Amino acid sequence: MTQTEQNPSVTDTPLVPLEKIVSLCKRRGFVFPNSEIYGGVAGIYDFGPLGVEFRNNIRRYWWWSMVQNHDNVVGIEGANITHPRVWEASGHVENFVDRLVDCKKCKQRFRIDHLPKENLEQNKCPACGGELTEPRTFNLLMETYLGVVEGERMKTYLRGEACQNIYLDYDNVLKSSRMQIPFGICQIGKAYRNEVTPRNFLFRMREFEQWDLQFFVHSSEMQQWFDYWKEFRFNWYKNIINHKDRLHFREHGSDELAHYAKQAFDIEYQTILGWQEWEGIHWRQDWDLSRHSEYSGQDLSYTDPNTKERYIPWIVETSGGVDRTFLNLLLDAYEEEPDPAGKEPRTVLRLHPMLAPVKVAVLPLQKNKEELITTAKSIYKTLQPLMVSQYDDISNIGRRYRRQDEIGTPYCVTVDFQTLDDQTVTVRERDHMTQVRVAIKELPLYLLERVSFR
Ligand code: GAP
Repeated sequence: MTQTEQNPSVTDTPLVPLEKIVSLCKRRGFVFPNSEIYGGVAGIYDFGPLGVEFRNNIRRYWWWSMVQNHDNVVGIEGANITHPRVWEASGHVENFVDRLVDCKKCKQRFRIDHLPKENLEQNKCPACGGELTEPRTFNLLMETYLGVVEGERMKTYLRGEACQNIYLDYDNVLKSSRMQIPFGICQIGKAYRNEVTPRNFLFRMREFEQWDLQFFVHSSEMQQWFDYWKEFRFNWYKNIINHKDRLHFREHGSDELAHYAKQAFDIEYQTILGWQEWEGIHWRQDWDLSRHSEYSGQDLSYTDPNTKERYIPWIVETSGGVDRTFLNLLLDAYEEEPDPAGKEPRTVLRLHPMLAPVKVAVLPLQKNKEELITTAKSIYKTLQPLMVSQYDDISNIGRRYRRQDEIGTPYCVTVDFQTLDDQTVTVRERDHMTQVRVAIKELPLYLLERVSFR
């Protein structure tokens, strides 16, 4: 099945409670609370064996679509720590703040911009009705110090948004890669924010990862490229989800635009948390390069090689979250399907095959037949270098299928007695549980065609 069309089996499934995903992630090794043996740290998570495979697939697919398949886009990987002046130039030292109130009674903390209007007007806690404190302002940048000698240490920040490295490296990329405007620079990298109210699992974290494109254009072509990337990014997300109707654009009102943005759209996805931002498409104009020119004293203007016009390029930004994608895809894919035989419901992750952490499981029908085991292990060893594969001979075949369904493995290959006669295997597809016979020698190509990026 290609997922450019909605998977009919999931159209009407209810929104999945977050706890189901949190529990699955821990149980099956996708995500663990960071420093759990010490009681954990709010808003920081580690990724387990399946999580890291899934995450790598998500990242690689983004890179493949954005960099590898665009002639006019290149990539960089910048450091997490930069010169502190970067954050003055970017406006974060001054503007990257949350205004918060605490409830005097139940002690819960709220961002003012998240409070319902009537609670704000009446100074009343939305949880218990208690009185709220005066608002206080917090900067979200995470401070760190470079150097070892007390008094000589330099205060700087872990990057509050990953994209700043792209502006810092823009001139070096231009000079070293022979790119000409219009062109883009991509990066996937960590960002750090002292979120005062980290919550909802991977949705709002303190250490998280962003993927950014900064696309540099002449101002006369800004609208055209803004429209191009807006549509491209929307369709990119649409291609990897089942519930196409849970994705939409929301344009920012003038009161919520970021300090640099002249126009912005969020690609939003609907989950149990409501409609929430997944990625932002921002019209950054010449803010970033102008500010860095001003603060660094380096001229970051561009000279058109044909017209000789000299100007500061304008920027279209597309900025999304790797972790938020991880979470949204699990929420989109999770389903508990009733079992017609009245047994336990089947838990299935209907992840796009190209993103699923494990692509294929090879299963001998029975454990006590030596020839089945030998053949299955040999097939597994052939597939292992080509795609992430698992071999499993523990418990009955039904249980093993269930184990794979729960982690989203799109194909299970079963080696049975017919295999020993005609060198074919059963390939079971996860979503519809259909089974076909495939010759062993054709198996690698059969699977690669179905799990590769497209
Ligand atoms: N450079 C623009 C920028 O950073 P943003 O809207 O603050 O814009 C972009 O962040 C994306 O990063 C968001 O759409 C979201 O997917 C992700 N993101 C932001 N804050 C996050 C957090 N605290 N935890 C997880 N993901 C986050």
